[in-house]
Amino acid sequence: MLNQADNELLTRVGPGTAMGAMLREYWVPACRSAALEAGGAPEKVRLFGEDFVAFRSPDGTPGFLQEACPHRCASLRLARNEEGGLRCIFHGWKFSAAGKCIDAPTEPRGQREKFAESVPVRSHPVHEAGGMLWVYMGARETPPRFPAYEFTALGDDQVQPYRGVIRTNWLQGLEALLDSAHVTFLHATNLGSDDGREYFKDESDYMLGDGAPVFEFDERPYGFREGAIRQELGGVHYARVREVALPFFSFIPAAPHGARVTCCSIPIDDVTTAQWYILYDTEGPLTRDLMSAFGTWSGNPDHFNADMGGPENQWHQDRAAMKAGHWSGIVNRGNAYEDFAVQESMGPIVDRTREYLGTCDRVIYRARRLLLDAVRRHRDTGELAFAAEDIDFAAIRAVSFAFPEGADWREVDPAALAEAAE
Ligand code: FES
Ligand SMILES: [Fe+2]
Repeated sequence: MLNQADNELLTRVGPGTAMGAMLREYWVPACRSAALEAGGAPEKVRLFGEDFVAFRSPDGTPGFLQEACPHRCASLRLARNEEGGLRCIFHGWKFSAAGKCIDAPTEPRGQREKFAESVPVRSHPVHEAGGMLWVYMGARETPPRFPAYEFTALGDDQVQPYRGVIRTNWLQGLEALLDSAHVTFLHATNLGSDDGREYFKDESDYMLGDGAPVFEFDERPYGFREGAIRQELGGVHYARVREVALPFFSFIPAAPHGARVTCCSIPIDDVTTAQWYILYDTEGPLTRDLMSAFGTWSGNPDHFNADMGGPENQWHQDRAAMKAGHWSGIVNRGNAYEDFAVQESMGPIVDRTREYLGTCDRVIYRARRLLLDAVRRHRDTGELAFAAEDIDFAAIRAVSFAFPEGADWREVDPAALAEAAE
């Protein structure tokens, strides 16, 4: 539970808010790289309650500009995508990716250049990695170091980002990504299905085997890691070690080898959030399509849950299927749809004064504490949390593994364990 003031502090992200100012200091995914065609249509991107266009110049260089033309606010989504920048179709003013007005053909010839130089244009630094265009929207002259997570170094065939959109605040999105306790329940049917068994292998049985794992935490300079330890039959323990790279990323535990998923919750505005599911395999090309492992999706990787429904149709929940044994009634869909339905059902910004937290919510409590400390510190001193210079972002990896009773999960080397079992 939180008081109303803290809930507001954590959830409001528009211009002029303390959380908005802090979150803008981190690099965030804006859109898929593949959505930007060289010389093609600019893509609308809304972030932190503000509207932008991302585009790729004919020579392949990406750019990120305010959506409203600096002249009289026509949308630059309509702009011509020319060599060197976007040209507004209304009066022909042209803007470079670096944020300069480089032509204003409606002005008298002699003054044109000087006038163009005087036009204020908002643009932000971009970086392409992991199949996504990332943007830095913060206040610093020089952007902070890019968080080079292991998936950001992979080639196109090894990493596949999918963007979901939920009609809730970013923190609701993040909290669902952190919550290990719900997996055994909300996703029970998927876990127990043939697809679940094929996808998660032994992990399904372990997760279904103990619905009340013990959570243990280790602080990390980027946030924390959480071991969810389940006690299984026959003297076996099962650990799911999640890595939480605040403020946005939750690395979902997966077996030491093979495909894995990392998720993040990026604010579009106070009541809309991009939930990215980034699939990757560091050992080779992706061979399985996790998006369709448990059923259908919209087919649009920029809005993979566009067909999810909403409160008006109860997210297509099927009561007959529930009577017949399906846990959530959200049938023939992946885990993300179940997560999203629950998140949206809480309302656009959940009233955290009304909650009643249990032991299973320690991770939620911890994340809120860290974020509250971070946002206050940033507001009061300008210091940025979770961004120390010596963080090795590439080493962050979340694993799940079974280990013998009596051992400490922190001491176990899951890769060695997997090899020994083979
Ligand atoms: S509104 Fe864009 S050039 Fe006039
Ligand atoms: Fe989930």
